[in-house]
Formats: sequence, C-alpha cells, structure tokens
Amino acid sequence: MNLREKEVSDSISVSSELIMPNDTNPLGNLMGGNLMRWMDIIGGICAGKHCEANVVTASVDHVTFSSPIFLGDVITLEAKVTRAFNTSVEVYVEVNACGTDGFNHRKTNHAYLTFVALHKETMKPKQVPKLKPISEQELAMYESAPRRRELRLILAGRMEAKNATLIKDYFKRL
Ligand SMILES: CC(C)(COP(=O)(O)OP(=O)(O)OC[C@H]1O[C@@H](n2cnc3c(N)ncnc32)[C@H](O)[C@@H]1OP(=O)(O)O)[C@@H](O)C(=O)NCCC(=O)NCCS
Repeated sequence: MNLREKEVSDSISVSSELIMPNDTNPLGNLMGGNLMRWMDIIGGICAGKHCEANVVTASVDHVTFSSPIFLGDVITLEAKVTRAFNTSVEVYVEVNACGTDGFNHRKTNHAYLTFVALHKETMKPKQVPKLKPISEQELAMYESAPRRRELRLILAGRMEAKNATLIKDYFKRL
C-alpha cells in the first residue's frame, strides 16, 4: 500500500458541463439535484485519486444555491482534497458559471464532501495517504478541517456534542 504524503495538486480534478434543457427546471434554471450529482462525481474522482482506492460518499455538508445557473450556461467544477484523516478525506468542491461566450463569470456554489476509502476485497474502510498543504490557502483549509469534521459528525449522530473540543475552543475565541 502506498501511503506517501501527497500534495493537493496531485489530485485536483476539474470538469465542465454545458447546461442543456434536460438539466433544468420549468423556469430554465439548473436543477439543484443535477448540480449536486456533478459535485459528488467530481469530488469522488478527486478523492479516489488521492486515496488511490475506491471511495464512497460519507457526507455532503450544506450546499447553498445563491446564484442561479441558466440553460446554456457553462459550469466548471473544481475539487481538491483539503485534509486526509484516517480512512476519510474532506474534499472542497467549487462551482463557477459563465455564458458560452465566457462572460458573466461568477462563483455559484461550493461544498465540503467527505469520502471514505474502501478495501477492494473487504469493502471495509482503509487508511488513506496524508495530505501535505503547501499554499497559505491550502494550509488554512487544512487547519480548519478538523473543526468542520467535528460538526458534521455531531450532525450525523456519530459524535457527542460534549466531546467537540475544537468547536468549543473556536467559539470561546470569538
Ligand atoms: C461511510 C461508511 C463506509 C462508514 O463506514 P463505518 O463502518 O461506519 O466506518 P467507520 O465508523 O470506521 O468510519 C469510517 C470513516 O468514515 C467517517 N464517517 C462516517 N460517517 C461519516 C459522516 N456522516 N460524515 C463524515 N464522515 C463520516 C468516519 O469519521 C471515519 O473517518 P476516519 O477514519 O477518517 O476518522 C459507511 O457508512 C457506508 O458504507 N455508507 C454508505 C456509503 C455510500 O453508499 N455512499 C453513497 C451514497 S448514495
């Protein structure tokens, strides 16, 4: 098993979609569920590359739809690993949209997704390579990841709030 430390750039994944009639609701806006599907796919590709394994989606943190995406827009999804834990990785997916002419460029969505690497034979969680953040932005996301992890594990009923030391410390500092 190759558990060498990996950099964010080793697994950055990007894809683009042209929004077609079948992707939209009756108002001509991209359906939220379609967007979430593409976010899940690009996130999974990125996590799989980092983990060098098959991965499954364990959770998707809240996705907001602040800016509509229209029929005929082009969206670009970019996924990067922000932190590797023991058997899971947190992946940040950002979506940007523009017209087919490249104008009206805007960030429309982002979300943090968690993927778990599985052994091919047993389908049990397996250890993942560590992540080595390089840039300031990578470092900031890396350092805040354990706090986000605590929150999502509490919301998933996998951690008791009383044990969430990082979140407690964070709010104490405000
Ligand atoms: C995700 C899954 C593999 C976890 O299996 P498990 O037996 O509960 O394994 P563990 O308790 O050992 O947890 C494994 C990792 O998953 C993480 N995890 C589990 N549930 C999680 C959640 N809701 N959010 C974030 N991470 C989660 C744990 O924190 C752990 O990470 P770590 O090892 O890096 O600390 C299992 O719940 C599963 O197979 N879920 C279905 C996945 C799937 O089908 N996804 C597609 C949805 S349609």
